[in-house]
Amino acid sequence: MKVDPFLVERFMNTYEHEVELNLAETCVDPFTLGEFLALVGREDFFEELKETQLTYGFIEGSPGLRQGLANLYDHMKPENILVAGGAIGGNFLVFYSLVEPGDTVISVFPAYQQLYSVAKSLGANVKLLPLREDNQWLPCAAELAELVDDKTKLIVINNPHNPTGSLIDADLLKRICAIAEEAGAYLLCDEAYGGLYVRPNDFVPSAVDLSENAVVTGSFSKALSLTGLRLGWIAASTQIIEECMLHRDYTTISHGVIDDALAALAMKHVDRIYKRNLKIIRTNHLTLSRWIENEPLIDWIPPRAGSVAFLRHNLKMLSEDICLRLIQDKGTFLVPGSCFEMEGFLRMGYGCKTEILKAGLSRFKDFLNSYR
Ligand SMILES: Cc1ncc(COP(=O)(O)O)c(C=O)c1O
Repeated sequence: MKVDPFLVERFMNTYEHEVELNLAETCVDPFTLGEFLALVGREDFFEELKETQLTYGFIEGSPGLRQGLANLYDHMKPENILVAGGAIGGNFLVFYSLVEPGDTVISVFPAYQQLYSVAKSLGANVKLLPLREDNQWLPCAAELAELVDDKTKLIVINNPHNPTGSLIDADLLKRICAIAEEAGAYLLCDEAYGGLYVRPNDFVPSAVDLSENAVVTGSFSKALSLTGLRLGWIAASTQIIEECMLHRDYTTISHGVIDDALAALAMKHVDRIYKRNLKIIRTNHLTLSRWIENEPLIDWIPPRAGSVAFLRHNLKMLSEDICLRLIQDKGTFLVPGSCFEMEGFLRMGYGCKTEILKAGLSRFKDFLNSYR
């Protein structure tokens, strides 16, 4: 089966382990194991784990983990949750389970490429719903309605959005849910960056709490800073979860029992994790805003949620050349817009440690000064 190269993953994988200042990463400063256990007050955790047998775990995720994840939603029960190998594993399973050759799949664009390339490789007719800078990088509901045809099986959105940090609010999300319902289509809402609101009063419900047709994927990597567990989940109606389980048997038996135990522990203390991470996001958003105010070569639509920003640059250089020069000359890592098929932009992850962000911005400034 043919699949297009996953541009952002290829680029990140090539350089991320060798750069000094990584402003390309999308996770909120991943915990060390020690830091995590201290935050949740469980430094003794591994003593207790000595009794855990290293056998297959629960295929769908342990009951405690599924319950903890269900608690993140208003209307979900453990049977509505399926634990997956990251949000990337969850997304893949949703496409693999629901999409057939000849189906129409509508996906926002630009986007995390998995959200449209997997459906294409499965033989779907993929239609792209453009997100435009002059509409705050948000989907237009009327345009979506026009793209729907009688073969539409799945509509795919990402909220909060990578690479722009845009946030679909409750009203627009309800309209998108209504369009999916009217079309008799599923709505996949990738909520990998869920809960990372820049403004304290922002809140958007999960799509899965708004519509029976919605399937939501979530992640331990971004807002929960437990990237190395490589865990995520799917939240959906039991009918969709059963369909996904049927397909999951062919790709995964269970995930790791130690990862599951750590993830279940995280769910018991999820408020503390969010408190830590919202502080990082809000501090860094302010730092980045001030930097951009004083930088005429860079402009942006300020992100409202998540941990990434999509910066428009006014340099007469290809975005990839800028990033390669920044890596070589300044040890600083950004993702070129070309990885999202969007020339003229750079994606920056601002969830890193504030010192790293400040040091990277300072070197980026030196680079821009030399260009001037
Ligand atoms: C929108 C989106 N979905 C899914 C993923 C994959 O996340 P995970 O680490 O949970 O597999 C990413 C990673 O960057 C992402 O940006």
